[in-house]
Amino acid sequence: MRILVTGKNGQLGRSIQKIVNTDTKTDNNQSPNDVIFVGREELDLSSESSISHYFNNNDKFDIIINCAAYTQVDKAEQEAELADQINHLAVKQLASIASNQLAKLLHISTDYVFDGENGKPYTETDTPNPINAYGRTKLAGEKALQALMPINAIIIRTSWVYSEYGNNFVSTMLKLGKERDDLRVVSDQMGSPTYATDLADAILEIIRHKKFRDEGQTTQIYNYSNEGEISWYEFAKEIFKIEKIECRVNPVTSQQYPTPAKRPRNTLMKKDKIVTVFNIKTSNWKSSLNTCMTILKKQQ
Ligand SMILES: NC(=O)c1ccc[n+]([C@@H]2O[C@H](COP(=O)([O-])OP(=O)(O)OC[C@H]3O[C@@H](n4cnc5c(N)ncnc54)[C@H](OP(=O)(O)O)[C@@H]3O)[C@@H](O)[C@H]2O)c1
Repeated sequence: MRILVTGKNGQLGRSIQKIVNTDTKTDNNQSPNDVIFVGREELDLSSESSISHYFNNNDKFDIIINCAAYTQVDKAEQEAELADQINHLAVKQLASIASNQLAKLLHISTDYVFDGENGKPYTETDTPNPINAYGRTKLAGEKALQALMPINAIIIRTSWVYSEYGNNFVSTMLKLGKERDDLRVVSDQMGSPTYATDLADAILEIIRHKKFRDEGQTTQIYNYSNEGEISWYEFAKEIFKIEKIECRVNPVTSQQYPTPAKRPRNTLMKKDKIVTVFNIKTSNWKSSLNTCMTILKKQQ
């Protein structure tokens, strides 16, 4: 099995690498998987020719896992064209290549394809209605993939990803919490955090599954996050509680904390489908946060 993972320097890409590097499991033929990780240096998704060049000059893959994306939600309002190239047009090109190579494609999307006004947890069949540029480009990527690959692909929609790598909500709160006496954090946007290692585990579980490996499976969307419904305010409070940081957290509304990109109000997603089809476990957000923060502490 030749497996390509894009976005090797991102949170999810690094989390997959961490597991693969310590994983001794083998595929069904008992031969180790050949997993190749690439970043923008090898495969620049902002350039059509870079993508063609990479695949023309490498042997065909059996599975492509696309963890790379333009993820700067606010900046995407100004750089919508670049975000569209990476999150939509590059995904379209990857889908076309995967289809030609008879490779499976596992692509990551976002809860921000929704407007957050559902009033109940989103299922995979609820109608998307993105309210910012990032969400629009990610939805366009999903649609292009589905059009080109009606079979042999999977889209996983996830939310509020954090990890022990790079900049994310947890690392930002830890930094600010140690510098300041109080902080304002939005309390009227609800959702579920996702520890990138949990998502990486789920992805590796899925690609080993017969249901994914069998030829001709209809392309499907799956939701995945940790369990629990919280606001960013509650998330920040828990981070400070675990780390015993004294900083006071003051809840504010989205209106009191304007950002260039509008955020959906509640993007809680139902995970029943991924749990049933692939037997994936979903951890409680607090236990996963504790796991991540324990690792962060050891790294200090
Ligand atoms: N982060 C979240 O809260 C969140 C929420 C919902 C869904 N998601 C989705 O989950 C997936 C993984 O996200 P993540 O948190 O791991 O994101 P991340 O940490 O921002 O990583 C994204 C990676 O994509 C790479 N990338 C950006 N532009 C590229 C280009 N032109 N060519 C090649 N690679 C490029 C980046 O490379 P550099 O390191 O070189 O910049 C980075 O390593 C993405 O599909 C994202 O849309 C994320």
